[in-house]
Amino acid sequence: MTIDAHDVEDYRSLARQLAALLGDERDWLINVSQLNAFIFEQLPNLNWAGVYLLRAGQLKLGPFQGKVACTHIPLDKGVCGAAARTGEVQCVEDVHAFPGHIACDAASRSEVVVPLKTPEGELWGVLDLDSPLPARFTGADATGIALLADTFLQHTELPRLD
Ligand code: SME
Repeated sequence: MTIDAHDVEDYRSLARQLAALLGDERDWLINVSQLNAFIFEQLPNLNWAGVYLLRAGQLKLGPFQGKVACTHIPLDKGVCGAAARTGEVQCVEDVHAFPGHIACDAASRSEVVVPLKTPEGELWGVLDLDSPLPARFTGADATGIALLADTFLQHTELPRLD
């Protein structure tokens, strides 16, 4: 069943589905792949859903759904870099108005990036969702997508990556 998520209650329902999908699996590569596929399938009007992983002091491309993407993002660049630097969710209504935005796909107009942190609070990577629609993501979407990221984190053993 697909839910056209609008409010946090819809996202709670999606988070329960995601928890059931991940089940007892703890492997990060399996779970992050499933997380991306689940989000890309369930949330309408996305053109990219994936992760960048903190490796050797920069964000490097990880598993994703969508078109080929930028492979390396320095921490001082883009929406992903801002999420990594600040540790805060970034919800950008108009990526063209965001200083330093990296346009991997010219079709992207709005974006949410959620920092992914270890249980010790260290940055491990970011979850990045892009949309071809301007202002696709509301505050409720950002909160709900952070809930999905948290569900992934609770189910997953995060390895130290080089
Ligand atoms: N737009 C991102 C770069 C990653 S791509 O969208 C997949 C950014 O500015 O951080």
